[in-house]
Amino acid sequence: MLLKMLLGVLCCVGAFATENIAEQLSPPQLLLVSFDGFRADYLRRFPMPNLKLLYSQGILVEQLTNVFITKTFPNHYSLVTGLYAESHGILASNMYDPVSHEHFHINNDSNPMWWNEARPLWISALDSGYKTAAMMWPGSDVTIGNRTATHFLPYNPQVTFKQRVGNVTKWMLGDKKEKGVMFAALYWEEPDRSGHIFGPDNDTAMSQALKEVDDNIGLLISELKTTGLWDRVNILITSDHGMTQCSAQRLIQLDNCLHPDNYTLVDLSPVTAIIPLKDPEAVFKLLDKCHEHMKAYKKPDIPDRLHYRNNDRVQPIILIADEGWTIVLRGDELPRLGDHGYDNSLPSMHPFMAASGPSFRQGYRISSLQSVDIYPLMCKLLSLPPQPNNGTMTRARCLLAAESCWDVPLVIGLVVGVLLMLTAITVLFRYLSSRRPPGSRPFQRLQVDDDDDDDPMLE
Ligand SMILES: *[C@@H]1O[C@H](CO)[C@@H](O)[C@H](O)[C@H]1NC(C)=O
Ligand SMILES: *[C@@H]1O[C@H](CO)[C@@H](O)[C@H](O)[C@H]1NC(C)=O
Ligand SMILES: *[C@@H]1O[C@H](CO)[C@@H](O)[C@H](O)[C@H]1NC(C)=O
Ligand SMILES: *[C@@H]1O[C@H](CO)[C@@H](O)[C@H](O)[C@H]1NC(C)=O
Ligand SMILES: *[C@@H]1O[C@H](CO)[C@@H](O)[C@H](O)[C@H]1NC(C)=O
Ligand SMILES: *[C@@H]1O[C@H](CO)[C@@H](O)[C@H](O)[C@H]1NC(C)=O
Ligand SMILES: [Zn+2]
Repeated sequence: MLLKMLLGVLCCVGAFATENIAEQLSPPQLLLVSFDGFRADYLRRFPMPNLKLLYSQGILVEQLTNVFITKTFPNHYSLVTGLYAESHGILASNMYDPVSHEHFHINNDSNPMWWNEARPLWISALDSGYKTAAMMWPGSDVTIGNRTATHFLPYNPQVTFKQRVGNVTKWMLGDKKEKGVMFAALYWEEPDRSGHIFGPDNDTAMSQALKEVDDNIGLLISELKTTGLWDRVNILITSDHGMTQCSAQRLIQLDNCLHPDNYTLVDLSPVTAIIPLKDPEAVFKLLDKCHEHMKAYKKPDIPDRLHYRNNDRVQPIILIADEGWTIVLRGDELPRLGDHGYDNSLPSMHPFMAASGPSFRQGYRISSLQSVDIYPLMCKLLSLPPQPNNGTMTRARCLLAAESCWDVPLVIGLVVGVLLMLTAITVLFRYLSSRRPPGSRPFQRLQVDDDDDDDPMLE
C-alpha cells in the first residue's frame, strides 16, 4: 500500500512536469481587455450577465489596488509594465519634464521620450519572437524604444467596439502569410465617459452605461466563439480605476489661498502639481493650510506608500484632494460630476479583474490583488521572462489551474487536525501512564523532589 501511495505521488509529479513542458512549448494566446473607469462595486450594483458568465467559468478578483495617481494613463501603463507610476514615467494626464522642458498632455502624447522609461508587454514580447497587437490602449500608437506592436491603429474614439474587436480577432487569427499574435491589448472608453458626465451614483445613467459595457462583452465572446478562438485563448478583463461622486458643494478654490502669479500649474485635480516660483517655503505654507479637505506635500515628504516621488516629473509640491472634492481655479464651477485620480487606498478608486481560458482555474475568486501583479501574471501565461517590475506572483499564482495552491481554510483545517491528533495522543498517554502500578519509574524523581521540599536547610 505504501508502494501504491509512492507511485501515486510520482505519477502526479510526472503529470505536472509534462504539463508544464507542454505549456512552455506553446502557451495559449492572451487577450487583455480594459473597460476604462470600471469601479469594482459596479459588479455588485448592476446585473452584467455576460461578464458573470465569463468569470463563473474562470476567476474573479473582486478588487484591484491600482497605482497612484488613479488616472487613466498612469494605470494603463502600470497594467502592461507592472511598474508604479514613479518607475514607468507616465505620472499624470498633464506632465512637465524639467530636464527636456517638454509638456505632456493625453491628447498630445506621441513623443516617445515620455514612454521610454519602461517597455510595455506588446513591445517586450517582440523580443521573444512573438507577434503582438495593441488596440487604442494608451501608448499603443507611440514608438517606444523605436518600436510599436506588430499591429495597432492610431487612437480614434470614433472607432466602435465592434470594429476594434473585429480587428483584434483578425490579428489573433493571423493568415497564411503571418502567424496570429500571442498578445493583444484592447481598450474601450466606457464606463469612464458616463461616470464623469453623470456621476457614479446616478443609477439610471450608470445602469444604461454598464448594460452597454456588458453587451460589448457579449459581442466579444460571440466574436471569439465564431472565430474558434474562445476555447483556446486566455482572456483577461480589467480596468484602470474606479470613479467617485463629486459635487458643487465640494469645491476647493485654489485662488483663495494663493495668487496664481506665485506658481506654475502643471496638473489640477484631484492631484495638483505645482512649481513654486519665488519663495517655495512661503508658497508651501499657504497651500498647507489652504483647505481641510486637501493635503499639501513637498516632494520629499510624499508618503512612501504612494510610490510617487522618485521621478523628475513629480513636481516640487503636490496637493491631494479628499475623496469627492474638486480643486478649481478662477472661481470655476464643478467641471465633472464624477472623477478619479484620488488616493489609491480608497475602495471607490479600485477596479476589478476577471479572466477565463485554459490556464485559469474555474469558478475561483479572491478578494484582492495589486494591479502591478497582473504584468508578471501575463508574462507567466505567455511563458515570457518578465522585465524588472513591482508586482509579484505570490497571490496571482493561485488563479492558475496548473498551480497547486494552499487554500487558507484547508491549511487551517490541516493544522487543527494535527493539533487534535496531538491532543488525543497526549490524553491517551496520560491515561495509560496514570494506570501504571504505584512506585513505577516515571514518578520516582518527583518523589525525590518532594523530599527535598521538606529539607530543613531551606528554612
Ligand atoms: C504637442 O507637443 C509638441 C511637443 O511637446 C508641441 O510642439 C506641440 O505644439 C503640441 N501640440 C499641441 C496641439 O498642443
Ligand atoms: C532608436 O534608433 C536610433 C537610430 O535609428 C538610435 O540612435 C537610438 O538610440 C534608438 N533608440 C532606442 C531607444 O533604441
Ligand atoms: C478595423 O477597424 C477599422 C476602423 O479603423 C474598420 O473600418 C474595419 O472595419 C475594422 N475591421 C474589422 C475586421 O472589423
Ligand atoms: C441621471 O442621469 C439621467 C440620464 O441618464 C439624467 O436624465 C438625470 O437627470 C440624472 N439624475 C441625476 C440625479 O443627476
Ligand atoms: C504671490 O504673488 C503676489 C502677486 O504677484 C505677491 O504680491 C505675493 O508676494 C506673492 N506671495 C508669495 C508667497 O510669493
Ligand atoms: C519597482 O521596480 C523597479 C524596477 O525593478 C525598481 O527600480 C523600483 O525600485 C521598484 N519600486 C519599489 C518601490 O520597489
Ligand atoms: Zn480611465
